[in-house]
Amino acid sequence: MAYRSMRRPRNAKMSERAAPKQVFIGTYGCQMNVYDSERMRDVLAPLGYAMVGEPDNADLVILNTCHIREKATEKVYSEIGRLRAHKDRRAGEGKGMTIAIAGCVAQAEGEEIMRRAPEVDLVVGPQAYHKLPELIARAARKSGERLAANFSAQEKFDALPARAPDGVTAFLSIQEGCDKFCTFCVVPYTRGAEFSRPFAGVLAEARALADRGVREITLLGQNVNAYHGAGGLGFADLLERLARIEGIARLRYMTSHPAEMSDDLIALHGAEPKLMPYLHLPVQSGSDRILKAMNRKHDGAYYRDVVARLRAVRSDIALSTDFIVGFPGESEKDYGDSEQLAREVGFASAFSFKYSPRPGTPAALMRGQIDEAVKNERLARLQAVLGEQQRSFNDGQIGRILPVLVAGRGRAPGQKHGRSPYLQAVHFESGAVRNGEIVPVRIIGASQNSLTGSTAALEVA
Ligand code: 5AD
Ligand code: SF4
Repeated sequence: MAYRSMRRPRNAKMSERAAPKQVFIGTYGCQMNVYDSERMRDVLAPLGYAMVGEPDNADLVILNTCHIREKATEKVYSEIGRLRAHKDRRAGEGKGMTIAIAGCVAQAEGEEIMRRAPEVDLVVGPQAYHKLPELIARAARKSGERLAANFSAQEKFDALPARAPDGVTAFLSIQEGCDKFCTFCVVPYTRGAEFSRPFAGVLAEARALADRGVREITLLGQNVNAYHGAGGLGFADLLERLARIEGIARLRYMTSHPAEMSDDLIALHGAEPKLMPYLHLPVQSGSDRILKAMNRKHDGAYYRDVVARLRAVRSDIALSTDFIVGFPGESEKDYGDSEQLAREVGFASAFSFKYSPRPGTPAALMRGQIDEAVKNERLARLQAVLGEQQRSFNDGQIGRILPVLVAGRGRAPGQKHGRSPYLQAVHFESGAVRNGEIVPVRIIGASQNSLTGSTAALEVA
């Protein structure tokens, strides 16, 4: 997966003038990393770092890395190799380039990175981003000093500055880490034990986002619905409180675990209109035998039941999921059970992956590792089913009027783009609508990844 580079925040102009230092942040992997990269940008802005879209001439390059599958990790080492050439060239021009590796690869393989890649100056784990200014200053003062840092999740949340969102939607991280120990997954090792941010801090950050014009908040956590505040307050309680914040029109959350879909959370999907009718609920497999070997803590029947209960309270709820194919011991019948579950549930969108053995995880040592060719073939078959479901879900929107949160200008003059309740990108013709408004849009076209339409204000007036 390619990294994403970030746009400059709107408020970067002043600091650019004051000290034209350039930082490039490349982000790999999940939304947690996207959120963390934004926070790193916010921490560095007061030091005069302006964001740039390419690493080639940056004074500081941060790679915010992902360790979830082997491919993601390999990308980091090949990107470091590419950066080496730029660092050498800049050294020839009498300029420096500080290279920092952040994220889960930094956490899991910090020492190895230092050994394998001498051009890396800093390794910083996901809990230590608030220390970046100090680490960078030390690295710059004493060239050649190489640093590694890691701290607790609580310290990080307390120390990071207020957010500077650059749009009408924002992520808000409320929970980190995981105690579930699915046998294929590195997260419990890289992100550590489950940690929930205190209620008050989350509410304060959400209010601050609302004050700055944010209308839609996506709560983030590796196991977001395992969130627990003090005094027995749970995730549904938090959502309820957040929904009371004026200005916040839409709430979402990811990634949730099926076993943590509590009764009150399911009920809230029926009762709280600000909770969007779209839920990412990873299932991983449709085979009970494989789910057990994965230590998923749920079987296929339980998953189907959760979906049925959600649909009973909110009939228009759409689901997305993650599947892994080729887990050790997966037979053709087990694979077939995954395909069967997909067909029964009908997903609006889905991610599917080939099982990738990760060092230190139990599944990597299991017997019955599956041939790469078999994995490829099963992945292709499953993706054909899931791709067809996504297309038909999007096609099903044609003719409907959807409330779209306006996020910015569209592709052509006079066009806008925004998001449907189902997180689809919508490009539409419109009159005078402002970013942050929620407007009715009649959908006239659909592709696998987006919708087109035009405002339908008069028709619904
Ligand atoms: N191999 C393949 N896919 C994995 N995932 C997590 N670990 C692995 C692995 N070892 C997938 C799961 C998870 C998503 C974020 O990544 O489907 O839900
Ligand atoms: Fe990984 Fe399982 Fe935890 Fe999700 S629930 S982060 S897949 S261990």
